[in-house]
Amino acid sequence: MDKREAPIGVFDSGLGGVSVLRACAALLPREDFLFFGDSANAPYGEKPLDQVRDLTLRAAAGLVERGVKAIVVACNTATSAAITLLREKYPDTPVIGIEPAVKPAAQADNSSSVIVMATPLTIQEDKYQKLAAAFCDQANVISLPCKGLAELVEQGCFDGPELDRYLQALFLPFRHCSVEYIVLGCTHYPFVRSAIRKNFGRPVAIIDGSDGTARQLRRQLEAKGLLRTGTEPGKVTFLNSDPSKIPMSRALFDMEY
Ligand code: DGL
Repeated sequence: MDKREAPIGVFDSGLGGVSVLRACAALLPREDFLFFGDSANAPYGEKPLDQVRDLTLRAAAGLVERGVKAIVVACNTATSAAITLLREKYPDTPVIGIEPAVKPAAQADNSSSVIVMATPLTIQEDKYQKLAAAFCDQANVISLPCKGLAELVEQGCFDGPELDRYLQALFLPFRHCSVEYIVLGCTHYPFVRSAIRKNFGRPVAIIDGSDGTARQLRRQLEAKGLLRTGTEPGKVTFLNSDPSKIPMSRALFDMEY
């Protein structure tokens, strides 16, 4: 089979990566996508590093077996834990990761304080610590581990009193700080962007890394001559280690948020 016609594999610990999949499919509408959510093992962000590495390698191997031409790790946690290992293991396959969009937030003109919301494991990892340190002279970068938030999203909680209580407690320490940007450093969080905005309670710009990841995917496919040649629209296929989550993945792909 002509490699250019193969699908692009997109992977996350669960449903969150659908937010990245949407950005990729919008930018590359003629490509086929194979999305794998590992919901049976979610959340990754509160597991030991070695376990997240093993799960990530296993998920990527499953996509490679299905003949994907590129792998998008649509999970900040899996990216920080295993992107180097994946690139070593699949040197001939483009492997695109995602990391919290600290750079555009810290470098924005009006930016003095930036809150980065991410899983505990992402924040604890070296990759993130270096990223935050690289911009700490340009803005006050506040790292905010959000234990339990990806799990709420995974369970389909996108608004309502439980989420409001969670977010109000999370933002309480910052009620007197001036904050210009919130960075969504976990791919589950864009699905609760409205609740985050409402519960933060003051005007703030909220950004995530989906579009940047999609652009990086396109650049890599272009550079390697792997863009699909056909003109018909591509199709998106959903797989999940917990098949009961597939209807929700499809619904999130189409949802307005
Ligand atoms: N969606 C993942 C991320 O971007 C992690 C969620 C989880 O903890 O499984 O970090």
